[in-house]
Amino acid sequence: MEQIVYVSTAKVMPDQAMIESILSVSRENNRRDQLTGLLVTGGRRFLQVLEGPTDQLEAAYARIRVDSRHFALVQLSRRPILTRSFDQWDMGFEQGYAAPLTEVVAQLTERVADPDLKAQFRSFAELHGQPA
Ligand SMILES: Cc1cc2nc3c(=O)[nH]c(=O)nc-3n(C[C@H](O)[C@H](O)[C@H](O)COP(=O)(O)O)c2cc1C
Repeated sequence: MEQIVYVSTAKVMPDQAMIESILSVSRENNRRDQLTGLLVTGGRRFLQVLEGPTDQLEAAYARIRVDSRHFALVQLSRRPILTRSFDQWDMGFEQGYAAPLTEVVAQLTERVADPDLKAQFRSFAELHGQPA
């Protein structure tokens, strides 16, 4: 198994319709492909962690990279893992609206053991938690 973390920028400010279409396809595909993860948006930025069997992960990441709804994709990390950080979600999701993104992200990653992964989410929330 491997885990990939990346950030990207949405072409246009994501609205509910865009998020729903991304999530519905992702959840269906990820369930099929035994992939799990978390997607967080803050303004036009996405941060996603995707983890699972290497072949399926690579295929999903290849599809995501060429998705025209976002650009400037930067891979923050890619590493082999023994256990999943998000085993309960085909794709968890959080948007920085209701509560401060930093708090929401802290809660979402409460059970994540990996300090580096936690730190990546924390700094993303700090940077992109304010409405753009
Ligand atoms: C920010 C972002 C995150 C995405 N995450 C996933 C994902 O976790 N899994 C997935 O299969 N597709 C994801 N997608 C969608 C893919 O880019 C692509 O549209 C989709 O996998 C195509 O699936 P299909 O061939 O079944 O139509 C994401 C797209 C965006 C913009």
